Amino acid sequence: AALVGRRARSWWRWGRAVEVVREFEEGCATPVGRLRQVVDAMVVEMHAGLASDGGSKLKMLHTFVDTLPNGNEDGVYYAIDLDANSCRVLRVELGGRGSKIINHRVEKHKIPQELEYSASEEVFDFIASTLKRFVEREENVINLVPDEKKELGFTVSFPVRQLSVSSGVLIKWSKGFTIEDVVGKDVSQCLEDAMSKNGLNMRVAALVNDSVGTLALGHYYDQDTVAAVIIGTGTNACYIERCDAIIKCQGLLTNSGGMVVNMEWGNFWSSHLPRTSYDIALDDESPNRNDQGFEKMISEMYLGEIVRRVLLRIADESDIFGDSTHHLSVPFILRTSLMAAIHEDDSPDLREVGKILEETLQMLNTSLKVRMLVASVCDIVTKRAARLVAAGIIGILKKIGRDGIGSIASGRSKGTSRRTVVTIERGLYTDYSMFREYMNEAISEILGEQVSQNVVLRVSEDGSGIGTALLAAVYSSKR
Ligand code: GLC
Repeated sequence: AALVGRRARSWWRWGRAVEVVREFEEGCATPVGRLRQVVDAMVVEMHAGLASDGGSKLKMLHTFVDTLPNGNEDGVYYAIDLDANSCRVLRVELGGRGSKIINHRVEKHKIPQELEYSASEEVFDFIASTLKRFVEREENVINLVPDEKKELGFTVSFPVRQLSVSSGVLIKWSKGFTIEDVVGKDVSQCLEDAMSKNGLNMRVAALVNDSVGTLALGHYYDQDTVAAVIIGTGTNACYIERCDAIIKCQGLLTNSGGMVVNMEWGNFWSSHLPRTSYDIALDDESPNRNDQGFEKMISEMYLGEIVRRVLLRIADESDIFGDSTHHLSVPFILRTSLMAAIHEDDSPDLREVGKILEETLQMLNTSLKVRMLVASVCDIVTKRAARLVAAGIIGILKKIGRDGIGSIASGRSKGTSRRTVVTIERGLYTDYSMFREYMNEAISEILGEQVSQNVVLRVSEDGSGIGTALLAAVYSSKR
């Protein structure tokens, strides 16, 4: 009787754990029909965001970038890439006439935590003094004329309302970064003031979002590139839009007839998105509640955290993880890189999973069954994220008539045979093979095998740095 009792208890414990995972999986389901609804919702929201400011949660910010680099740029340009908690400085040397990038150097600096609670002047002073030390080291090496005004590209990986191609006002922070008094200020002006205070003879030639820098670099290498997607700490996309489709900027004319639009798609929302109670709780407890809903299902900052929340529920409702589960209560303890390592462990006894559970969550001696369950939660979270990114990309292609779907239905050949390149940047797509596989699979499911062959996803490296320096060259006052 004791044995039967033990078995029954063990079955019940596992039964509840498996049920939690099964419910979660159902909540995250993205069958192709649902993905198509997300595609259509993305197109509708894009139209609404282009029609008026505030017309949609998609901000659809116009960037004033109407010309993308094509390989003829030459000279030396600097760039600053400001993202959540980090600031990178770059120097890029371009050879012109298709000779591409001769040389580039990068340095990464962490923004000291205490600056998070300080005034904007101190933050920009930190950035300018970091840049100054970098420029001085570089100039020593290359011996440039010290007084020549240098052109700088400035990447701000947050939403900015552009006033021109080289200036703009920060709308808000995201990704957990918050230095309140920068919001509403012209970030280029702040930087230029700090640079002149630090004795730097430099000018911001281009102020851009990281997605726009990525598009610039993608286009530099491949002129069929029409859009760029970032899947890093946050997620975003930008693409080339016809000026006459940007209704909210009527009368906007450019030489090319087009302009890059920064979608800020991290804030996309639709009732078709598969949202679970875990997503709702994560959002409720975040500093930017009701914002960046798409981002909170997709980007590196959040995926590990969603997994942790599901594991915590399992720990609360069953005892399959044993007694030592208190680490599971620590928000953000399971970083997405660890989650990817759990997911990609293909050793027969899931040794790596066991190690991570032990080292990060202090769960000792986990059984193979437990490890498999944890890996399956990672799989569900990643699959949903990757498939949603795929739907977002097809949304863009559909908006600009490059999805080939209409043409197949109508029997016309337009769009179907046109090579269309989307450049993709950052960790999740490049370093996480399961993410990449799920994304590619969803693209061919939505578009069909034949059409999807014309959609090329190209990985770009450091668009937010090098791409922005290229835009500084395009918009340099010397040209
Ligand atoms: C966040 C920011 C956006 C940025 C993205 C990727 O979504 O709001 O501006 O492009 O992260 O870094």
